Amino acid sequence: RNYAISVIPGDGIGKEVMPEGIRVLERAASLYGFSIDQKWQDFACCDYYAKHGQMMPDDWKAQIGKPDAIFFGAVGWPDTVPDHISLWGSLLQFRREYDQYVNLRPVRLMPGVPCPLVGREPGDIDFWVVRENTEGEYSSVGGKMFPGTDREIVIQETVMTRHGTDRVLRYAFELAATRDRKHVTSATKSNGIAITMPWWDERVEEMAKHYPSVTHDKYHIDILTAQFVLNPDRFDVVVASNLFGDILSDLGPACTGTIGVAPSGNINPDRTAPSLFEPVHGSAPDIAGKGVANPVGQIWSAAMMLEHLGEADAAAAIMRAVETVLAEPGLRTGDLKGKANTEQCGRAIADALA
Ligand code: NAI
Ligand code: MG
Repeated sequence: RNYAISVIPGDGIGKEVMPEGIRVLERAASLYGFSIDQKWQDFACCDYYAKHGQMMPDDWKAQIGKPDAIFFGAVGWPDTVPDHISLWGSLLQFRREYDQYVNLRPVRLMPGVPCPLVGREPGDIDFWVVRENTEGEYSSVGGKMFPGTDREIVIQETVMTRHGTDRVLRYAFELAATRDRKHVTSATKSNGIAITMPWWDERVEEMAKHYPSVTHDKYHIDILTAQFVLNPDRFDVVVASNLFGDILSDLGPACTGTIGVAPSGNINPDRTAPSLFEPVHGSAPDIAGKGVANPVGQIWSAAMMLEHLGEADAAAAIMRAVETVLAEPGLRTGDLKGKANTEQCGRAIADALA
């Protein structure tokens, strides 16, 4: 097995954690009998913008070609390029052009990571947030009237399609069917948002009929955020619209204290285009250049990418190695009160893979 991977380190600590992600990937490849064909790209970063006045070349799609996946670091350098430009010119282009309609994030309490929720142990919290990534509340339908006057009106519409909703719900139920607890929780707000959300609930009920082995329930988004904090052990797979999913997919990892270690996938489950895997964190300008960033988010993203590519054994081995290293204070990075730098932590995980 050989996999073509497009490697895009991006800005700031993206450039520091990427080599550790690659180190662990290569080690996993040699142990599990597959190979990784890497194509590194220097675009989708603010250095590229400084030279060319745009984040990516016009023919970026041709330059990326048809890889099996994209392995991404982080983008953004607010001192030189405004964040909306760096983000819209890179990550959001990938999401749209490659129809990455699922944003997937694990919420899992790891050893060595202090949990902000009192009394929780590793093993207590282990679920996935599935966010719709292409439509919903983040539409460009709307407008502004009478700007700057007392009669000012702004309107922004939510756009949900049956195609777009059903495909993300199907993904959530399929994911739940592979898990022990086989349970889907849907985020709704059908008591307040009286057109789109009752319809979303109907689509959930329709989809559930196809998965008799999977149980499901729903919570209004307001109480759901409270449940994330109070009873996170309740959840298995949580599926949500674009806006609700955006909130939940930051809240979930925050409940497990994981800014430096959390990964994410922007997934095209139909495989009509590559999916993209990246850490949840950004380019961290405050610590960039010091070699102290935590590489675990990048390395866990590598495990998610391998799972997507069908290398489940290698992915599971990476996660065991990550847990072994996180449990060892001397091998953790400074954000987790450890003593290791980025490279030492990455090497320790690669070594633990043996
Ligand atoms: P950030 O995630 O870069 O940093 C937030 C805080 O967490 C900082 O104090 C940072 O030092 C710390 N941190 C983050 N990752 C860490 C790691 N691996 N190890 C240790 N500490 C870590 O978020 P911020 O500061 O809001 O954004 C900085 C830039 O990154 C902006 O340009 C923003 O637009 C961009 N960004 C990009 C993302 C992406 O590429 N997907 C996601 C979030 C932000
Ligand atoms: Mg967000």
